[in-house]
Amino acid sequence: MSTATSNARPGVVRIAATADLHYGRYSPGTWRQLAADAAAEADVLVICGDLTDDGRADEARALGRELTQTATIPIVAVLGNHDFESDQVPDVRSALAELGIVVLDGESCEIRGVGFAGTKGFGGGFGSRALSAWGEPIVKQFVQEAVTEALKLETALARLRTRTKLAILHYAPVRATVEGEAEDILPFLGSSRLEEPLNRYGVAAVCHGHAHGGRPEGHTSAGAPVYNVSLPVITRIDPSRRFRVIEVETDLSGPIADA
Ligand SMILES: [Fe+2]
Ligand SMILES: [Fe+2]
Repeated sequence: MSTATSNARPGVVRIAATADLHYGRYSPGTWRQLAADAAAEADVLVICGDLTDDGRADEARALGRELTQTATIPIVAVLGNHDFESDQVPDVRSALAELGIVVLDGESCEIRGVGFAGTKGFGGGFGSRALSAWGEPIVKQFVQEAVTEALKLETALARLRTRTKLAILHYAPVRATVEGEAEDILPFLGSSRLEEPLNRYGVAAVCHGHAHGGRPEGHTSAGAPVYNVSLPVITRIDPSRRFRVIEVETDLSGPIADA
């Protein structure tokens, strides 16, 4: 497991990972170059949520067109909280799917022998300070959303038959990669309830977004690398980059591409 921008090597699948494109916030045409560069450097483009700024289907369609005009590699995504803003989630998903972009919501796919399990995730905080389902119904409902997302992640991972599994989330499963954001909002940026399925299924790596001001790397308690690939995090390190390339070993017994 490493991150690099090297050429393809036998037995290695290169994943270009990014998040928080917020289509509509930036100029039209911005994303064609990202997709072209990703296709030149990687085998798969992964987008970890907040594809749109306002969650409108027209934003998703316009972004999808820009990406698929220049990307010649599979694109796998999960939605983020911004993609829910206009209550058009089914249309956002359809707009992306019609262009061949795979949107995972508690689902999985296999590409070049690597399994991708994805879901949005949710907040609630980390470790012993995480919000618990106690007291008012609205608090229990909030916690239940994180529990439901963790179950969706577990279901997606359980369906994979590949040795190498990559988890794609919008919200963070560990505190380390949201640190750097204001302390007051850390519990809204992720939930350690997402971490248990990652440990149980032995993921090779986890990618997430959402924490625009967070840190680029952390680890699960089982030692799997966690990458915060939010676009502002990537560009803060290197303004010329718009994705991070993660290399994972391919499972040679798996299918070549069925996404
Ligand atoms: Fe975002
Ligand atoms: Fe977000």
